[in-house]
Amino acid sequence: MRSHYCGYITEILLDQYVTLYGWVHRRRDHGSVIFIDLRDREGLVQVVINQDVPDSFKKAEQVRNEYVLRVSGKVHFRPEGTKNPNLATGAVEVLARDLVILNRSEALPFQLDDEDISEEIRLRYRYLDLRRPVMQERLRLRTRITNALRMFLNHHGFIDIETPMLTKATPEGARDYLVPSRTYPGSFFALPQSPQLFKQLLMMSGIDRYYQFARCFRDEDLRADRQPEFTQLDIETSFMDDKEITDLMEEMIRQMFKSVLDIELPIQFPRMDYAIAMQRYGSDKPDLRIPLELTEISDLVAAVEFKIFAEATKNPRSRVAALRIPGGSKISRREIDSYIEFVSCYGAKGLSYIKVNETSIGRKGLQSPIVKFLTDEVLANILARTNSVDGDLILLGAGLSKVINDALGALRVRIGTDLGLLTNEWAPLWVVNFPMFKWDEDKQHWNALHHPFTAPDVDDPAVIRNNPENCMSLAYDMIINGMEIGGGSIRIHQPDMQSAVFELLGIGPEEAKKKFNFLLDALKFGCPPHGGLAFGLDRLAMLITKAKSIREVIAFPKTQTASCPLTQAPSTIADEILHDLNIKILRNIP
Ligand code: AMO
Repeated sequence: MRSHYCGYITEILLDQYVTLYGWVHRRRDHGSVIFIDLRDREGLVQVVINQDVPDSFKKAEQVRNEYVLRVSGKVHFRPEGTKNPNLATGAVEVLARDLVILNRSEALPFQLDDEDISEEIRLRYRYLDLRRPVMQERLRLRTRITNALRMFLNHHGFIDIETPMLTKATPEGARDYLVPSRTYPGSFFALPQSPQLFKQLLMMSGIDRYYQFARCFRDEDLRADRQPEFTQLDIETSFMDDKEITDLMEEMIRQMFKSVLDIELPIQFPRMDYAIAMQRYGSDKPDLRIPLELTEISDLVAAVEFKIFAEATKNPRSRVAALRIPGGSKISRREIDSYIEFVSCYGAKGLSYIKVNETSIGRKGLQSPIVKFLTDEVLANILARTNSVDGDLILLGAGLSKVINDALGALRVRIGTDLGLLTNEWAPLWVVNFPMFKWDEDKQHWNALHHPFTAPDVDDPAVIRNNPENCMSLAYDMIINGMEIGGGSIRIHQPDMQSAVFELLGIGPEEAKKKFNFLLDALKFGCPPHGGLAFGLDRLAMLITKAKSIREVIAFPKTQTASCPLTQAPSTIADEILHDLNIKILRNIP
């Protein structure tokens, strides 16, 4: 029987006889004595094997890295001069009396302490990658996060309920992962993009407070913070308004940060309107650690000679915005060029700049390729509006608002990070007052900004039909450090409102009946007012562990191209299985 984990062997156990199980992290053979660093999930301890235990010594000679051992022996102080203060167990060693090889290991495809292994290899041998302490630490932190959240929710009367995996499409804006039905040839289940409709049905069932750590599946473009298969902490409540829900959820996140990181987040997270977030930060998930803001200057440059500016002011879907970098005039031309290249990834055609060198000497004190197109008055107005002073740099972008917001929004984060401007470690906020709908230029129809079950802030369905562009929703997103970690809304609980929203979104009565009849039916039988939200658990874990990618906090993630190098999924299926499923492959892509 194991008496202790390797990482717990300290001087407290001096002269005690211990039995350890673990992996050989390293072996050093000094001829008459062999040292083995034995590792388990709690840490590493030095084991010493002398020739006076000949059987064990002989086995120790065969041992290689990653062999699995059982070692029994006595805890000793290490000789003076050989103590390792960087190791929790570094003052002691275990003098082995008995060593058993439980399993051998071939040479590993990579060294566990090598920092430079490609992600492809790490994912292919994930079980080895996960032996690394940093990965174990992340997985353990993740469980501390879920424990803290679970405790809070249980304490507040939330009931943990599972909802189906094999289900019908739930529109959350991505493609569905589909599962063919054998018993209904030609029919498919969809894996849930979220448990949205089921949790609403649970409110209609009188559950009142629901939660679930729910696996969600979305076939969408992947990014550093997106996986095709991810986990939500999904929550729904009845009879609470948006303020009550966001207050309670904020408290939950605050308590989780306190218990996991011993960090006190602010008592009331700031609330910011979506429109303000877009205008000042170019993003609906502003990183408020960065003290840089966009300033609207469209009205100041409407009549200037500089065509790109003047043109942009004529289009209501465009903007001209300035980003002031305090003390930025020392940024070199080369660095500015690299910023121009950076924004081009977001579709921005260019970036103008003004280096504010010396305002007291007028336009001569402004270094910029565009000042010649701007009058003294326009320049003075830009400097005043952006609060610029000597030594600053102003970056200016003009074009479609979507492009300028994406480009300057990302640039403010990049420059803020490059220049080390971050003001604090944690910056949570709620973004609220979202529009209900956004117009899709290409398809020429309205889309829901959140999902089609989000309630508007008006009770009358006629307002939705007549004035969709000005309709606001009762939705809220929680943002921490520029990452959307959660979002939700008050839901529509009246069938006529739900039908009006479906209609506006181009889901006619026939299609609504086919796709959502169960919901429309359920809304008729005494549906309570309800609302909720879902947190991205993987994103929370990523944020808290400060991991660079979501894949670092998931035990077995998919690659950027939605595959699994470990199991080689997805894979082809034998013809007879396809036959049973009534499926024919149209083309094989190698
Ligand atoms: P939403 O689509 O905003 O809302 O998702 C909620 C949260 O889930 C996380 N998230 C993701 N995490 C990793 N990979 C992904 N592909 C991914 N997509 C989303 C984000 C996001 O904030 N049913 C609604 C919630 C509700 O209204 O209650 C929903 O799913 O952190």
